[in-house]
Amino acid sequence: MPLRAGALSEWALVPLRLFLGATFAYAGLQKFANPNFFNGVSPISIHAQLVAAARVSPLHALVVHLVGLATPIGATIAIAELAIGAATLIGILQRAAAIGGAALSFLLFLTVSFHATPYYTGADLVFFSAWLPLVLAGRSSRLSLSAVIEARSAAEARRPVPEVVAIAFDEVRARCGHYEAQRCRALDAPCASTHCPVLAGPATARGDEEVDRRAVVLATASTVLVGGAVAVGAVVTAVAGRVVGGAGAPIAPNTLHAPPGAARTALGVELGPARDVPVGTAANFTIPVTGDPGIVVQASKGVFDAYDAVCPHAGCTVGYYAQSHLLVCPCHGSQFLVATGEVVAGPAPHGLAKLTVLEGPDGNLYLK
Ligand code: FES
Repeated sequence: MPLRAGALSEWALVPLRLFLGATFAYAGLQKFANPNFFNGVSPISIHAQLVAAARVSPLHALVVHLVGLATPIGATIAIAELAIGAATLIGILQRAAAIGGAALSFLLFLTVSFHATPYYTGADLVFFSAWLPLVLAGRSSRLSLSAVIEARSAAEARRPVPEVVAIAFDEVRARCGHYEAQRCRALDAPCASTHCPVLAGPATARGDEEVDRRAVVLATASTVLVGGAVAVGAVVTAVAGRVVGGAGAPIAPNTLHAPPGAARTALGVELGPARDVPVGTAANFTIPVTGDPGIVVQASKGVFDAYDAVCPHAGCTVGYYAQSHLLVCPCHGSQFLVATGEVVAGPAPHGLAKLTVLEGPDGNLYLK
């Protein structure tokens, strides 16, 4: 490899590392800052995401048992994202952080993005793929705290930091006293870079152990400091989010239960009393024909907007977000107009399937 290419390659993964580190740290802080993420009745909560995942994920048999642990699971995900992001950004425990990032992304892919359509709009698969080069490359020596620690340890032990210099193997052979007629006299074997006792042999020099010991002590101290900073950052962000955010407490949606054995009448299939959907609120129900979750919102007195609540992106269940008067998906944030079901933001490729729900003269709601 030419020397210039070797030097440049050390920078090649730095932009990716900084992007992933910043994104994961931001994602973790955002979860702590948003009170609705931990509020079980909010349509954008971790609870809503787990409920959706329990319905559509290939791991649904496992996820269904985790719904009751939504808050600790959400906190664990947020802490993991923050720790992985911080370690990746500052360049410490880099391979471990990359493995954690890839594992978390793959888990999120299996739970909330598995059915994303088209598949590349599910960001978790993209993040998983993006972490893999960092898993393979391991430690980066550029803009990295690990490299600073190593250099400082070497300086304290009065040893220069070993530098990696690219030299063509033909050059090594030309200068090697043991190279003769394609063979290595020292090994009595064919000459090859993988067997070379100079290139691959024990490289421990006097002072290396001292450098290693200092580096381990400094790295451990730095990791503890970073862990403390992550914990403090999480607490400060959570408090600030609750003081400044003012998201308001969401109202838990009702659930309409059709009377047992309700048959289709001229008005449609009875869903339940209209009084269970007060103005400005929503109620969930099960669509009798498909078994899909449905949602009905009484936007203004006597006006009921109803939809198949399955998000067309990856199949999560949308909920009514009264603060913005939108139907929102907890998995990747798609937003839909209450009046039409039209998608206004997010990766959903199209709007929600509209249903017709009317209030009958008996005060009950009917699905046409
Ligand atoms: S499932 Fe992805 S936005 Fe709804």
